[in-house]
Amino acid sequence: MHVTSKSARLAALSAVASATALLAGSGPAAAQGQLTVYCGVQEEWCRPMVDAFEKQTGIKVSMTRKSSGEIYAQVKAESANPKGDVWWGGTGDPHMQAAEEGLTEEYKSPKLSELNDWAVRQWEQSKGRAVGIYSGALGYGVNTKMLAQKGIPELKCWADLLNPKLKDEVQVADPNSSGTAYTMLATIVQIMGEDKGFDYLKALHKNVNQYTKSGAAPAKAASLGETTVGIAFLHDHVTMIVDGAPVKAVAPCEGTGYEIGSMSIIKGARNLDNAKKWYDWALTPEAQKLGAAAKSFQVPSNKATPVPKESPNLAEIKLINFDFAKYGSSAERKRLLAKWDAEVKNLPK
Ligand code: F6P
Repeated sequence: MHVTSKSARLAALSAVASATALLAGSGPAAAQGQLTVYCGVQEEWCRPMVDAFEKQTGIKVSMTRKSSGEIYAQVKAESANPKGDVWWGGTGDPHMQAAEEGLTEEYKSPKLSELNDWAVRQWEQSKGRAVGIYSGALGYGVNTKMLAQKGIPELKCWADLLNPKLKDEVQVADPNSSGTAYTMLATIVQIMGEDKGFDYLKALHKNVNQYTKSGAAPAKAASLGETTVGIAFLHDHVTMIVDGAPVKAVAPCEGTGYEIGSMSIIKGARNLDNAKKWYDWALTPEAQKLGAAAKSFQVPSNKATPVPKESPNLAEIKLINFDFAKYGSSAERKRLLAKWDAEVKNLPK
């Protein structure tokens, strides 16, 4: 009787102990601590990154996926009481703006020397606060079946998107939330000059059926036949094409802009050591290879990471000399977005 009740007490105690351990989040993962990642790429790529990092390090990762401009807004809103540790992915412009505004930490990774020049330049221009993790060129995807049905000739240039036959047939994201759409805004202004560029965006507005929140959404919409043209990074169209979508990816004839997808450590990160572990690991070929495995075909920043054979060849695309410092600066980004809101977004059609 006595023995039984003692073993029952022991069993009850150990049940309480393991429940407490669970609640406290202990066990092998929590023994290594936590990490909060704000992820700016496609969910399909965020997930395997988190799983691989957790498996390798035992660190428990909490991840939120959002668009580039949205993560910037969140980091800024939380700056008095930061909740995130690492901001991984998304276009470079809001990373640059956050760097200038002191919202992110300086960090020099031992992996820096393994990266392509464009990735290191991002680190230099942000004064050590953001680093390039991938690159990709902007363009548009055309649903070729819908184009043929509408009897519209092949689209090759930015100018071709103003064809009145494309009324309500072009989709692009809102540059406030989306780094893709901000890259387009900055690209058009750099190619055409600011006045002509805004004239173009106002004319294009007539053909735009929706300004989406996320930059890659128009690529998906074009693949599903919900829009004839979707403006997005070319690699996002390739993701649809490899899955059999009747889409042609177009690098516009006037030239086009590109992104340096970036990574930053958030100022005041509660898990700074773990943030640095993620940062160093995310720059390795082993981690960067997870992109292609998730059908994300950006060009990786580590020179030793194989460039996926599906990646649009940047050397064959007419790329503009994109001024990342200017268009990533806080004043210029704010000014251009406010101007787009005032002059384009709510224009009657
Ligand atoms: O993950 C796809 C991708 O196009 C990235 O290359 C890019 O950095 C990001 O999405 C931009 O997303 P958004 O336009 O939603 O900010």
